[in-house]
Amino acid sequence: MVQQSAPLWSSRFAFVMAAVGSAVGLGNVWKFPYMAGTGGGAAFVAVYVGCVLLVGVPILVAELMLGRRGGKDPVGTMAGLGARFGGTPAWGLVGGAGVLTALLVLSFYSVIAGWALAYVPKALGGVFAGADGTATQAAFAGLLGSPGTLLAWHTAFMAATVFVVAGGVRGGVERASTWLMPALFAMLLALVGYGMVAGDFARGATYLLKPDFSKIDGGLVLAAAGQAFFSLSVGLGTMLAYGSYLPADVSIPRTSVVIALCDTACAILAGLAVFPIVFAYGLDPSEGPGLVFVTLPVAFGQMPAGALFGAVFFALLVVAALTSAVSLLEPVVAWGTGRHGGSRKAWAAGVGAVAWGLGLLTIFSFNIWADVRPMGGDRTVFDWIDHLTSSVMLPLGGALLAVFAGWALPKEVSAAEFGTGDTALFRAWRFLVRVVAPAAVLGVLLDRLT
Ligand code: TRP
Repeated sequence: MVQQSAPLWSSRFAFVMAAVGSAVGLGNVWKFPYMAGTGGGAAFVAVYVGCVLLVGVPILVAELMLGRRGGKDPVGTMAGLGARFGGTPAWGLVGGAGVLTALLVLSFYSVIAGWALAYVPKALGGVFAGADGTATQAAFAGLLGSPGTLLAWHTAFMAATVFVVAGGVRGGVERASTWLMPALFAMLLALVGYGMVAGDFARGATYLLKPDFSKIDGGLVLAAAGQAFFSLSVGLGTMLAYGSYLPADVSIPRTSVVIALCDTACAILAGLAVFPIVFAYGLDPSEGPGLVFVTLPVAFGQMPAGALFGAVFFALLVVAALTSAVSLLEPVVAWGTGRHGGSRKAWAAGVGAVAWGLGLLTIFSFNIWADVRPMGGDRTVFDWIDHLTSSVMLPLGGALLAVFAGWALPKEVSAAEFGTGDTALFRAWRFLVRVVAPAAVLGVLLDRLT
């Protein structure tokens, strides 16, 4: 029998929107454009889309399926299913590693969301009016150089995340996802339109969509695969937790395709909004994590009513980030209350406090530790946290979930959860999680680590 946790979602539609809300976030608007930029543009995008289709979506299906079947927090789900189907409850460790990873991702996610939050009053106050790339670069550097300011916005964002998870997943997250995500989508479309009129759209689109396949190597594939996991919110238990609240009559494959379509569309739109401006203003596509905070303000500074438009855009980005941050805190809180008891409020506050403290590592990486390279090379502390979580832990977690769903979970069980019977689609999915996804992940990881 399927054990159902307290149903968190008020309807099927609400679940889809919450899952889309989890997937669409900073990963699409902030991270995807700069990763495409440092990865050389279209080569990265092509590999990324391949990873989403062949690895990301099948694992998303697997993770939701395991979550619904297990019906508990991520650790309890994997330990329970492991004991029943996998020969050992030690599978719970996969859930445990996910919970740890979620904490780490949340810690830097909140800092970056804090940048977006800081940009709302900046944009509204007309700071960017008439600014060129040099000026927006200076404004961004000013923000990064001030640990106190970063800390204040990080604190505000983390508090909001805790507040939502502690009290109103239903009222808060559902409502935010249902109304504000489409608004963000519309804003992205409008920005792409602006890029067509005022930017170097042809060059931006070519850069993003016309791949030079000779640029593809192991490092690029690993980065693209990591980004696919990050953007789809798979590999650390978010979807195990969300799946455990999922009513039995929701189609997991259909939902997964909707999530992936919305997610990829938002990422590509964000790229199409950013790169025409990059080229029109002679900015550097491989600028790195600051990319959207440097490019888009140039556009806001030139367009009519740009102050208002910019403020609304960054506010929507904060909301998109909030629905994602909530989905990072949720699996940890579910684990806490599920395993150790205690109130949801207390766990949300406690876990939020830990993630807040870990966030200091990211904050300092941009100022007082800007020159610190913990392992030599050129990665800062933040770069390491980002690399280890996105490029190592998420793919590894996702591959293990795929292996479990493909090999340990009996075929009747996965077929029942898949919901289509033994169709070609189901067999294709099973092949992807049994062979393709684990092989792809282990292949690129080994290529990198050896
Ligand atoms: N997908 C979100 C984004 O693109 C971030 C996120 C939320 C996430 N939950 C996750 C990433 C779970 C990995 C795993 O911004």
